[in-house]
Amino acid sequence: MELKATNISFKYPSAKKYQLKDVNLELDNKKIIGLIGDSGSGKSTLCKILSGYVDKYEGSVTLDGQPLPKKGFKPVQLIYQHPEKVMNPKWKMKQVLEESWEVPDDILSEFGIQKSWLTRFPQELSGGELQRFSVLRSLNPKTKFIIADEMTTMLDAITQVQILDSVLKIVKERNMGFLLVSHDMDLINTICDDKIYLKDINGA
Ligand SMILES: Nc1ncnc2c1ncn2[C@@H]1O[C@H](COP(=O)(O)OP(=O)(O)OP(=O)(O)O)[C@@H](O)[C@H]1O
Ligand SMILES: [Mg+2]
Repeated sequence: MELKATNISFKYPSAKKYQLKDVNLELDNKKIIGLIGDSGSGKSTLCKILSGYVDKYEGSVTLDGQPLPKKGFKPVQLIYQHPEKVMNPKWKMKQVLEESWEVPDDILSEFGIQKSWLTRFPQELSGGELQRFSVLRSLNPKTKFIIADEMTTMLDAITQVQILDSVLKIVKERNMGFLLVSHDMDLINTICDDKIYLKDINGA
């Protein structure tokens, strides 16, 4: 499993300067990489490009040599920092999950999800509880690569480790790739095999 970004350059339409310039990155499922950078340096922008949420950029992103599919299921799944922003507030959590896949009971309990939460709306759960759903949603059996963009920033240390342990267990079992974006150097040093500083690979 190889996720490769070649000469990625990107400018927001409203901006004067490029946010990303000639960024090259090679990720695989053998090593967990941590991506580090200052606030506003373009980490989330790069994550969106790597997972297929941005159309207009220069360069290419390939997964095992193939461009990312333009339609349908996204094999590179992005877990956002703020899960509430990407969940339909009118759906109960059961529907939010099932939109992606039918999660077996043992995985629900592995992630500490209580059955009663399934019949609640997103706004009726805490940030940490919601993030468990967001992570689980990304673990569709078709997923090849997970990009976790500061997914645990809003959680306390214990919950953070619990969720990451559960997700990394599945990532290993299924041979998926995993990129962790974080400000937290302790977390990166604990979880990741290697780290990359965005400023070192960004020519902008
Ligand atoms: N939709 C947008 N339109 C215009 N500018 C944007 C847009 N989204 C982000 N930006 C700008 O692009 C820059 C990079 O933003 P990005 O979210 O990628 O940074 P980041 O490294 O993820 O920061 P943080 O660590 O705070 O999450 C910022 O200056 C931001 O203001
Ligand atoms: Mg960000």
